[in-house]
Amino acid sequence: MSDKPRINVAQYHELTKHRFDGFARGPETIDWDAQPDPFRRFDGAPFDTLPLNADELELPFSSLYADDPIPAQAMGRESIATLLEISLALSAWKQYGGARWSLRCNPSSGNLHPTEAYLIARHIDGLEDGLYHYRADEHVLEQRCRFSNTGETPPTLLLGLSSVHWREAWKYGERAYRYCQLDAGHALAAVCYAATLLGWHITPRYEVSDETLSSLLGIDRRADFTGTEPEHPDLLFSLHATPGTSPDVEQLIQATAHGTWTGQANILDNKHFYDWPVIEEAAEASRRPALSTPSTPHFQAFPYPLPSPCNEPAARLIRRRRSAQAFDGTTVMAQPDFFRLLDHLLPRPGFAPWDSLPWEARIHPVLFVHRVGGLPNGLYALPRRQGALVQLQQAMRQEFQWTKVEGAPDHLPLYHLITARAGRTAATLSCQQAIAGDSAFSLAMLGEFEENIADSPWRYRELHWEAGVLGQVLYLEAEACGLRGTGIGCFFDDGVHELLGIQGKQLQSLYHFTVGAALTDQRIITLPPYGTR
Ligand SMILES: Cc1cc2nc3c(=O)[nH]c(=O)nc-3n(C[C@H](O)[C@H](O)[C@H](O)COP(=O)(O)O)c2cc1C
Repeated sequence: MSDKPRINVAQYHELTKHRFDGFARGPETIDWDAQPDPFRRFDGAPFDTLPLNADELELPFSSLYADDPIPAQAMGRESIATLLEISLALSAWKQYGGARWSLRCNPSSGNLHPTEAYLIARHIDGLEDGLYHYRADEHVLEQRCRFSNTGETPPTLLLGLSSVHWREAWKYGERAYRYCQLDAGHALAAVCYAATLLGWHITPRYEVSDETLSSLLGIDRRADFTGTEPEHPDLLFSLHATPGTSPDVEQLIQATAHGTWTGQANILDNKHFYDWPVIEEAAEASRRPALSTPSTPHFQAFPYPLPSPCNEPAARLIRRRRSAQAFDGTTVMAQPDFFRLLDHLLPRPGFAPWDSLPWEARIHPVLFVHRVGGLPNGLYALPRRQGALVQLQQAMRQEFQWTKVEGAPDHLPLYHLITARAGRTAATLSCQQAIAGDSAFSLAMLGEFEENIADSPWRYRELHWEAGVLGQVLYLEAEACGLRGTGIGCFFDDGVHELLGIQGKQLQSLYHFTVGAALTDQRIITLPPYGTR
């Protein structure tokens, strides 16, 4: 690839919009038997089969919102096993007829799971110092690099995420780069929730360049990836049992440079029938350079989150999270549940998963309310940052009313725009998917687009990560009030903008979501994630 990308992120976004007169470019036919392997492994690398101990973590989901801090567990192999089991591990196998597929704690567009996870550990109880790849299919850590003497450094644990774009591109073609970023956001939030439940803190390392992250994770080692699909660096974050300084990444790079490497990446797909070069161009155009360490932004101070009445163990709720395939079209969501769910979308440092996004909110949901107790059906908006209210008001239709919703908690920036039966419209805009209209409500996540990507094109990815984080909150909160959610990546972009009266590129819809009472297909059999282990 030449130094200069052939496409910029704004062009990529435009190119990959679904339109009423045509979908973004993708494969014409799909051979399901030829799906790329959803599990990466490094053949020849020594591995450690982790214990399955998440059932021992009995903290109720409500503890995520309690005033008392969650006590920190000692960092070690056992607690790391729990962290992974309730964030990125398999949560079940499903079987129907001759088909069998696995599900994970973190959702993924098309269940294709482009996200890979790596751990860097130094002086962690029960783990040799080194870099590990996490294999979700076996709940195993594969040791990619063994560090030689790392000296007297404090205990260090970092988690890095990367994406195999081809896994999504195989099915979704050019739009797939967006889905990879949304999935990475879900994975980031999933890890943040898990860390919080262990009483740990996370510090995202957005200052680290993609190039450095690639070296740190060993995904730039071409010889170890011969003939197979590359991985692209996404995210890095430090985990701490007690708040502390984040480890020096340069030192870790030195440790990997002098370490002993093992393992050869498996080939995920032997035959690529299509090629979507704009994906690599978009990746190139949105590469993250090295940045100065971000100063902590001044977050709007919202009061403490509304308490959650859900006393089910969080570790169980997380593993039973599922996407709804269909909704009953009748169940009315209780108003307090609706307000609490929206309240938990407000960014609050110190509460999961908001420490993963050290910037002021850039994503603002517009809701299509279909069945919520005591609320007129219609369109609503939740500007998640104070200044965004005016921005949204100016950008959207003049006839919208912007009335603060009566009965909602005072601090909740929920505005009623217009009364309407919007079920069919919501479904139409979400690629004719009935799940967007048969639910209690669905929503479109508007991102502050143009201004963010103009000088900092890597923020294109951050916007999608933030949307993915919101999606993960919605999934868990829906489960916590006895409902179910589904992420919706397929929508007619400009159809949504037109409905809302948005012209220009100041705001763009980046992700949709829907929440309601799910209908479950009883014919599908559920099996445990790791057999009889
Ligand atoms: C970014 C993203 C986009 C998605 N888009 C859709 C969609 O458009 N329609 C749909 O029915 N499901 C969608 N899903 C749900 C996935 O199909 C689902 O997460 C996947 O099949 C795994 O199932 P699970 O969530 O029950 O673990 C999406 C999920 C994500 C994370």
